[in-house]
Amino acid sequence: MSATESIPTRELAERAKSITQRELRTYIERTKGSQKATDRARKVMPLGVPSSFQAYDPHPIVVRRAQAGWMEDVDGNRYVDYDMGYGALFTGHCHPAVRAAVELQMDYGTLFVTPCEMNAEVAELLAARYNLPMWRFTNSGTEATMDAIRVARGITGRNKIVKVEGGYHGHHDEVMISMKPSLDVAGPADNPTPIPATAGITPGVLAETKVIPYNDAAALERALATGDVAAFIVEPVMENIGICLPQPGYLQQVREITRKYGTMLIFDEVKTGITAGWSGGTGAVGVQPDLVCLAKSIGGGLPLGAFGGTQECMDQITSGRVLHLGTYNGNPLCMAAARAVLTEVCTPEAHQKVNELNARLVSSCQDTIDRAGLPAHTVQFGAKGCVTWAPEHIRNYRDYKATDFDLAFAQWIHGINRGILLPPGLDEQWLISMMHTEAEAFQYAHVFQDFVDELMH
Ligand SMILES: Cc1ncc(COP(=O)(O)O)c(C=O)c1O
Repeated sequence: MSATESIPTRELAERAKSITQRELRTYIERTKGSQKATDRARKVMPLGVPSSFQAYDPHPIVVRRAQAGWMEDVDGNRYVDYDMGYGALFTGHCHPAVRAAVELQMDYGTLFVTPCEMNAEVAELLAARYNLPMWRFTNSGTEATMDAIRVARGITGRNKIVKVEGGYHGHHDEVMISMKPSLDVAGPADNPTPIPATAGITPGVLAETKVIPYNDAAALERALATGDVAAFIVEPVMENIGICLPQPGYLQQVREITRKYGTMLIFDEVKTGITAGWSGGTGAVGVQPDLVCLAKSIGGGLPLGAFGGTQECMDQITSGRVLHLGTYNGNPLCMAAARAVLTEVCTPEAHQKVNELNARLVSSCQDTIDRAGLPAHTVQFGAKGCVTWAPEHIRNYRDYKATDFDLAFAQWIHGINRGILLPPGLDEQWLISMMHTEAEAFQYAHVFQDFVDELMH
């Protein structure tokens, strides 16, 4: 008899809740400095944080320093960082090569607001990885998706866009729809109702965004058949609901359907990016989009985004039909960092090494799950991995909503008190960076084993 047969799901959830209660008390005890810093910050910043993603109860960890694969909070607690800025620190915190490049650039100037030679150099490096000829730089993933959508509207002369339910593409209006809608209002699974994620979205914007389930080619075809859709924006592998892989053939069908209806296919690779491998998620899934959006991992910890596209798409900017602007675009500091990331740090060999290390970590966690017979599974995509608290692989947002959040939260808070820093959202994944040591990577597996042992006994 497997362990889950002896422990019913309801009993597991009860055990998870009692672990959570105890761990929350410990958390409060060991993070008094973070509490104090947050109390101060709440007086001058909503929720006491610079981005609402960073807020959680009772208060977030407030960090004083980070290097390589670790962070230290203001109470002196040290964590192995598996969040790595949602993947922005794929190189590791302050990688020596990135640091040297940025330090050297300081001698030559940080901002020109006129081109530098590195602009073309970095664009060439991205063109080689993504097999798309033309690139522009931005300062964030939000700007990259916003600009790519504008290019798609320019080339098609159409207004509407399609996104998947549960997908996050940054914080501009037209994609802040059905990010994580409550199922009470989300409508039927195969034809979700577009739900604004925030106040401030106008009815006009809401009316331009159609929402479909991920992994459902028929729903995409229905949405595009009206002939008025400029773009389908999608992560090739969804990384804002754990890691949700495309089912075999799905993305190939997406490519065929978008072509059939003259809709631009935008891959949002802000998260997958080069954490997925040398040629990104695009290379890993083997489907060529019309436009790709990047940020996070390409900047080595500096604020850099980019979007690339086919010649025809990017000619919209060349011709002046679509305007793409920005004071800090392609600034030499971020360019120096990106050049170091793309040439010195994230070499094909380094990508392979980090993916192999991650595969061993994923398989160790899966062994723990199998031995205990838990209703959970692991997923890997490149240097990222996750434990999803559901017996079967999830296909879309509705499956994700059916996962066990009590167990996920208990694992998260149990981990943080033992030096395992994961993003707070329960919808994220770990990242093994270029600087995590083998011991640091496997720290996750050891603490996960402790958590499972406690859950089962
Ligand atoms: C898939 C995806 N797209 C876009 C963004 C927005 O990027 P940024 O936070 O740099 O604006 C994010 C941020 O997490 C993301 O996960």
